[in-house]
Amino acid sequence: MNKPDLCVAKNREKVTINHINLDMNIKPVFNGKKYFLRTYGCQMNVHDSEEIKYYLEKLGYEYSDTLEDADIVVLNTCAIRENAKDKVFGYLGRCKHLKKIKKDLIICLCGCLTQQPSEVETIMDKHKYVDIVIGTHNLSELPKLIIEANGKQNIEVYSNSDKVFENVKYSRDSKISAWINIQLGCDKFCTYCIVPYTRGRERSRKIEEILKEVQELKKQGYMEITLLGQNVNAYGKDLNLGYDFATLLEETAKIGIPRVRFVTSHPWNFTDKMIDVIAKYPNIMPYIHLPIQSGSDEILKKMNRRYTVEEYKKLFDTIKEKVQNVSITTDIIVGFPNETEEDFKRTLDIVNYCKFDGAFTFIFSPRVGTAAALMEDKISKEEKEERLHRLNEVVNKYSLESNKKYLGKVVEVLITGPSDKGEDKVCGYTDTMKLVNVVGSKDLIGKIVKVKIADAKSFSLDGVVC
Ligand code: 5AD
Ligand code: SF4
Repeated sequence: MNKPDLCVAKNREKVTINHINLDMNIKPVFNGKKYFLRTYGCQMNVHDSEEIKYYLEKLGYEYSDTLEDADIVVLNTCAIRENAKDKVFGYLGRCKHLKKIKKDLIICLCGCLTQQPSEVETIMDKHKYVDIVIGTHNLSELPKLIIEANGKQNIEVYSNSDKVFENVKYSRDSKISAWINIQLGCDKFCTYCIVPYTRGRERSRKIEEILKEVQELKKQGYMEITLLGQNVNAYGKDLNLGYDFATLLEETAKIGIPRVRFVTSHPWNFTDKMIDVIAKYPNIMPYIHLPIQSGSDEILKKMNRRYTVEEYKKLFDTIKEKVQNVSITTDIIVGFPNETEEDFKRTLDIVNYCKFDGAFTFIFSPRVGTAAALMEDKISKEEKEERLHRLNEVVNKYSLESNKKYLGKVVEVLITGPSDKGEDKVCGYTDTMKLVNVVGSKDLIGKIVKVKIADAKSFSLDGVVC
């Protein structure tokens, strides 16, 4: 048993990075058994689940879409806000109930929640029926822990990591669009955010390994890749090998996959060199997710965001000017400790200025171990909810406005799958990341097609193939 260190602040220690080539030989010892996997949270977790799926399938488990049929349940958890945590513990109740009937069921928890010492304590005290708790730094130990499962709770969590695994294998969800990790962890320590504690220090993968993965995906016929990191702008800095994110993006674009995306960019240190590369290559998609978080300099300072509203505006304007037809989305938190009505109005001001294509909006949720969780907060829950409501009205107005600009236009859409809007429809994304429901057959899946936009809603477009 290896419990996370109770002093999470230890994660602030710098680490020397160790690149490890994974070479695993997993035997199919569970042939005929079934797995059920549930993923909570961000794209990082979605991609980690593809790694988990690879391990489970190599062990011989087959996919099941019903919990009740499973011999092993894996919950890949999220800790970013309290409601994400509540959902996991709610679902654990169902797993506990099933285990009463199915004594051999293996229950496994992984993902960000397992990196929070207080949550691990809860699992040890109140959820003894959970068999395996594995952290974010040692996912490749999962096959070993499953083979060794013996009915006693086994906790293998490390509070930080100096490791970057290369040559990780995935059972990818899509044959069209693939995620690629370029960097793990985060060093920004925004005061509200748990990620630097759950994912550890910023560690970059080697450029040659990433490009090898891109080449391989191209060979397999992938139409789109997304380079993944908590803050892609910082890619390469920790390695000090003379390359940065702009270099990686350019080299990736040159490989020639039709669509290259990246997420997430911090407004701090978004270089002109990056903007120039994005503008230069037609296969780098004109879509940037650029979280602002707040429109008040006072709050941004308390959040440790390292930029002012003026600096954000300048960056926003430069991107809009240099990258043709770019769409920009953002993240916004309302109700940060002691956010005044004036602070909030400044957030509305920046939204009115930028007219974002879309925004993910959240109410501040205190996370144990972060600096903001200790800040005094006199703002009531009702006031925060009311601000969120007011913000969403403005955000949605601009989403609709930006979608309406597409009416009557012909755009290229990468069709990724069937649409839930009708049997006769498929869906996909424009280069600017707008979701489009398209009248057409399933044969279009995996193709980039020209679509004429006939209707625009706040969160999607409707169109017909030209
Ligand atoms: N409370 C509310 N929202 C948060 N986010 C991160 N941490 C918190 C928190 N404690 C939001 C930020 C981030 C997005 C992924 O989640 O807006 O950009
Ligand atoms: Fe969290 Fe800030 Fe890092 Fe994003 S940049 S993951 S918000 S600490």
